[in-house]
This record gives sequence, structure tokens and C-alpha cells, in this order.
Amino acid sequence: ALQISVESSGGNSSIFQYGLMLEDLNYGGEGGLYAELIQNRAFQGSSFYPRSLVAWTPINGSVLSLQNLSQPLSSALPTSMNVATGIGNGIVGFANSGYWGIDVKAQKYTGSFYVKGSYTGAFTVSLQSNLTNEAFASTQINSNSTPNQWVQHEFTLTPEKDAPNVNNTFAITFESSDVQGGSLDFNLISLFPPTWNNRPNGLRPDLVQALSDLKPKFLRFPGGSDIEGLVQGQEWKWNETIGPLKDRPGRPNCWGYEETGGLGLIELLLLTVDLDLDPILAVEDGHWLNNEVASQADLESHINSTLDQLEFITGATSTPYGALRASLGYSSPWKIKYIEIGNEDNIYGGLPSYISYRFQAYYDSIGSKYPDITVMASTVELVLPAKAVGDYHQYSNPDGLVGQFNYFDQNGTKNTALNGEIAAKFANGLTWGDTAQIFPWWIGAVSEAVFYLGMERNGDKIIGSAYAPLFQNMNSWSWSPDLLQFTADPGDTVRSTSWHVIQLFASYEITHTLPQTESFGPLYYVSGLNQNTGTHIFKAAVYNSTGDYPVSVTFDGVEKGTSATLTYLVANDPYAYNAAGQPEVVQTKNSQIIASEDGEFAFTLPNLSVAVLETGH
Ligand code: AHR
Repeated sequence: ALQISVESSGGNSSIFQYGLMLEDLNYGGEGGLYAELIQNRAFQGSSFYPRSLVAWTPINGSVLSLQNLSQPLSSALPTSMNVATGIGNGIVGFANSGYWGIDVKAQKYTGSFYVKGSYTGAFTVSLQSNLTNEAFASTQINSNSTPNQWVQHEFTLTPEKDAPNVNNTFAITFESSDVQGGSLDFNLISLFPPTWNNRPNGLRPDLVQALSDLKPKFLRFPGGSDIEGLVQGQEWKWNETIGPLKDRPGRPNCWGYEETGGLGLIELLLLTVDLDLDPILAVEDGHWLNNEVASQADLESHINSTLDQLEFITGATSTPYGALRASLGYSSPWKIKYIEIGNEDNIYGGLPSYISYRFQAYYDSIGSKYPDITVMASTVELVLPAKAVGDYHQYSNPDGLVGQFNYFDQNGTKNTALNGEIAAKFANGLTWGDTAQIFPWWIGAVSEAVFYLGMERNGDKIIGSAYAPLFQNMNSWSWSPDLLQFTADPGDTVRSTSWHVIQLFASYEITHTLPQTESFGPLYYVSGLNQNTGTHIFKAAVYNSTGDYPVSVTFDGVEKGTSATLTYLVANDPYAYNAAGQPEVVQTKNSQIIASEDGEFAFTLPNLSVAVLETGH
């Protein structure tokens, strides 16, 4: 057996943190975490993703068309849907198919829509089966509409039973003979189920639950590449994601679809509040994905926008942007510990200008106004000021991640860094340009564990790590693999093999690593203390052993007869992955181990397993 003795003092004292990286791709925000059920609710679009009637269908011969009225709902939402009664007679209207279906449960739905036109009857709103037309819930709202202004109509719907599947639609109908002028105009048609913590305009509970169960410590948001924008002008603008939904114009993201702006800055900050996460706020830095960069002269407006954003988030209500925050209902400021300048500025041609002026300009401006905020560079390929930190991203194959186990040992003189994105993305032997894995898979998850162990050993140099991306909407995605899979049906939500590995490691926090006998491969490990619980922790992963691997661990000062809990994860097949409707592939094995006469905890770990041993309290 490999004999590992762990000393009682020395080592590193920083806590390595597992966290989350959230950006809207794979319809993981819109149509995912953001609980809005109506797709294309306000007919938003751009030259990249033209406005359309996607997800809307007419009912009973009505005629739907997009209109840019001279009197729009708002300047942010200039396009609306005209519903002409057409050849229709009697009841006409329109339906929305949601984001590939609508989950209908016996629970309260809250909605609203704006209408303009002359109608004296009542609107009927309903949730119904797309297959049988059975209405699960339906309610009538008397029309307050007028031809001269947009009038909001609010409603609730409470189905009495669960629908058997998500093949459902949301419909608004009205009596055509009570319409004067032959048509009505609609915009911002919105419907929410109950949300996490019952937040208005909030988040989907099953997906937040899957994040919460990971026990994360930080949230890096809102990107990723998505903060940058495809071309100049399309960067993520914080001030266009706050306030009433009718004032949020949305934007084309870099992942193939238009964002509504509904999942905005405040909604994301509230997620950090609800899950008790440190925000790592990423901001655009005058660099776009088409390799364009802002000149030194043009950079100032970008930096000012970031300073305004920091004032909005953290400022006293006596400041202009702090007052704006208070006017939206949030008088207490939030705290920002880290701000990240851009994303992956070392690629897409960003590095030369990042080095020569962009990073430093942000660093200086933020530092002079907010000295307590740590400024993070979006790369580690830069000589940084002493107080700054870096961000290292790593997408690789299993052998590649295991080969990087020592990567942070060599970090000696470099600044502390976040590992802001990590995933085993390709099968062994494959790399960028080859087909990626569709789902996290077991050998990939074990290799991620090895990489995490390499980082935990260097907890004084590494802030923490986040798997990326988080979400894969199985109806439309462009990047794989991802930590969680889902559809409109919460019953389909899948916690991947990689999720299980993070969940295990994050559940046992080493607050102080300890010096240990080091002989790595095929067993990789870290040892330390949890000073809060007074326990010793040994975390390990076995990658590429020829059989079961015997291990013996002694902890200086831990006596014979002490009991420890061993938990390890294993799967039957290196290529096993979790998928909706299939049995869980990750097996969790628990046992109690008693320290022998010599104080040894002896046990055996299978090849491709991920383990934690914790001594009793
Ligand atoms: O996580 C997906 C993408 O990978 C991120 O947007 C980007 O930072 C990285 O290239």
C-alpha cells in the first residue's frame, strides 16, 4: 500500500473554494435558469437574430404580424404583435409554446400582458394541452384596453392538477365581435411559475436547487464570452438589464440567440444573496469577439460604465447610482469582493492591448475608487500588479487534466489566480477542432477531480475553481459538455458525473492543507484540516491504476482507534454518463475505517474513483 504520512503543521492556510460560473449560453439563462415561461415574450431581435413570431401561433383564424407602431410600448421594446381578427369569428387569439414546452403543475402562475386597441369584452388566458386542448387552468380578465395607450393586464392561473407532460401552451383569446378596428396589439406577454425564494422575475427552483446542493462559495457572472459581445456595441450593458422589464431592450448574445435582459444584474446578485455566494463580477473591457478593441481614447466610457456599475451595486443611497438602486427597491448595497476585467483577453487578439493599456487603466481607476475590491485579470499570461489576481481556464481531455496536476505547484512567484472555467471536454486523444463530449462522463469527472486536487494542494495560490459551462438545455445547445442538463420538464433535470465529483469535494472543506508524503500517480491526493470541525481530511482520486489501489494514511497526532468515514464515488464504466430517464451511474460507497495500532487508516480504492476520508469529530 502507498504509505502516506500527514504532518501536523505547516502547509497552506487559504481555503480553496468550489464555485459557479454562470453565463447565458445553451438557453441556460433564457429558457433555463430564468423562470420566464413565454418564449419571445416581447418580440426582441437584432441584425444577428431578427425579430420574429417564433413560438407564437394564431387561434381560430386570427392573423399575427409584427408591427413597429408609432406609439410603441417603450423605446426598449419597439416591436409588438398585431392580432387581427381576420376571417375569425367568435373567439380568436394566439398561443405560445414556451421554451420547448411549458411545465404545468398544480401551483400558482403569475402573468401579465400589455394590450393596445379597442376591446370591450374579457380576455381569457389559459394553460392548455397542445395535444388534446384540455385546459388545465383558465381565467377571465375584463379588458381595460384603449386605442391610445398600452394597458397592462395582470392575472394568475392555478391549475387544479399536474399536466401529464410539458407539451402545453399558454393562450390568450378574446371575442372578435367586441374588437373595434379589426385588431389588437400585444406586447411583453409574461408568465412565471413559482420561483426560488418566491422572487418576482425570479429563477427556476429545480435548477437553483441543483446549484445550491453543490455547496458553492462564489458566482462568476455574467460571462464568459457573453460579456464581450460579437461586435462593438453588443457587450453586456449592466444598465440595460435593470428596472422594469419594459425598459430592458435585450441584446444578441454570442451563443446564437437574443437575450431579453430579464435575467439582469439584480436577478444575478439576488442569486448570490440566496445561495450566500461571493460575487465575482465580470465586466466588458472594450474588447469584442471579432477581435476589435477600443482605442485608449475610447476606453474611458467603458471604464466609467464599470465605475457606475460598482456604484450602483455597492454605493450609498446618497450617490447617484446608489440612489437608482434604492429607487428599484434595494436600499442596502451589496458587497463586491472581486471584479474581473474582460474575459480570456489572451485569445481573440486581445492580449497586446490588454497588456499595453486596457488592464492597467481598469486596474488604476477601480483601485483608486474601490481599494477594497480585488481586481482580476482575465488571463494568467500577464505580469500583474501585486494586489491583482489572475484567471486560468482549462478545457482539456482526461489525460491533459491529469497531466496538469502539478500546474499550480509551479505558480510560485505568480499572482493568486481563480480557475474560472474548467472541464474535461474531449475524449483522450482529442482536442480543439475535434468533437467534444456531449455529456460529462466518468473518466472525465475523475480527471477533473485530479485537477481539483492539484489546486487544493495550492490553496494559498488558487482562489477556487468553477466547472463551465453550467447548463445545457437539451432542446437547443451549442456547447458541451455542461454540468447540468435540463428540459422544460423539471423531472428531466440531470446532475452530471462532474456535478457529483464537485459535490463530494465541496462537502469537505480543507481550511488548512498539511504537508504529506508525496508520491503521485495513479493516486493523487491532498491532506488537511477542517479547523471549524477539528477533523482531518484526505481527498484522493485514482486515475489509470491497473487494479484496486491500497492506501494507508496516518495523520500526525491522530491516535489508534480513531474512527474515520470513507466516502468514494465510482462508476461501472469509464464512459458512463448521466442522462434523463436513465439510472444514476455514479455510485457512492461509504464505510467506517478505524485507525490501527500504528494509527493507520488502511483502505483500498478502485481504479477511477474519487474519495474523501474524514476523521471523526
Ligand atoms: O464556457 C464557455 C466559454 O468558454 C466561455 O464563454 C469562455 O470564457 C470560454 O472560452
